[in-house]
Amino acid sequence: MRSLEGMSVAITGGGSGIGAAAARHFAERGSFVTICGRRQHKVDDVAAEINATTASSRCTGVAADITVDADRRRFVESAVAHGDGALHTLISSAGNMYRGPIEELEEQALLDVFHTNVVAGMMLTGLCVPHLVPTEGVVLFIGSVHTQRAFPGASPYAATKGALETLTGVLAAELGPRHIRVGCVRPGAVFTEINQRAGLFDDAAAKARLEGLASSHALGRIGTAIEIAEALAYLAGAEWTTGAVLTVDGGLGLGVTFA
Ligand SMILES: NC(=O)c1ccc[n+]([C@@H]2O[C@H](COP(=O)([O-])OP(=O)(O)OC[C@H]3O[C@@H](n4cnc5c(N)ncnc54)[C@H](OP(=O)(O)O)[C@@H]3O)[C@@H](O)[C@H]2O)c1
Repeated sequence: MRSLEGMSVAITGGGSGIGAAAARHFAERGSFVTICGRRQHKVDDVAAEINATTASSRCTGVAADITVDADRRRFVESAVAHGDGALHTLISSAGNMYRGPIEELEEQALLDVFHTNVVAGMMLTGLCVPHLVPTEGVVLFIGSVHTQRAFPGASPYAATKGALETLTGVLAAELGPRHIRVGCVRPGAVFTEINQRAGLFDDAAAKARLEGLASSHALGRIGTAIEIAEALAYLAGAEWTTGAVLTVDGGLGLGVTFA
């Protein structure tokens, strides 16, 4: 198992939720972490909090929009610089929710969610490959239980996650000969700000809705961002694992049915 100590890790969407939890988890284990998000204050706050609690400068925040080529390049350059010239791990956690009845979907909004959730991660992976070859590094995506359970009205988001889970296998095969591994964590329900940012619910309604799903989990509760970060850390270190989609969902995807 590869140690996270000294690893250079780039995390998109690190200003909140699962990306922020992953940044904390890796930094606490000695990684040099570079996070990005569009809101400067969010990435700055996460980096400051991590550096204060680890008494180090292990985390650096970059305001960058991953749908913009120049921002992607700036983010990767920052991560390589923060990692003293190296990059070991790219975690694509940035993602947006878009949902609605199929007959009401807007084309531009569909293109936007595919741009953020799928295309930007693909472009970033391509940019990172030259840096991941010398480190025999790893690319990690975040899938979703939406590929296992059908949520009517959530077709745009589910389709983006289906694309990422498929990409995991194809890119693992494509990059394996260069000793770059590719993986994906498939979370279930975790309380973050993804639905609130999409304007779907306020904090209280989002929390109530997720808690309402608790009984659909085999383990009877929703998950935490740290539990997803732990799975990302496993895949980052697991040197003979590639192409894996690791389900971490408390059993929500099982479709538990009492009859
Ligand atoms: N929460 C769940 O239950 C759950 C379940 C399955 C999968 N996931 C996946 O987990 C990942 C993380 O989501 P989360 O739940 O942690 O939600 P979150 O707290 O909303 O985090 C997503 C982050 O992505 C950033 N982001 C969005 N668009 C961006 C862009 N164009 N450029 C750079 N950053 C961008 C956002 O920051 P800015 O707005 O500042 O850019 C935000 O901090 C997503 O891929 C999501 O689909 C979540």
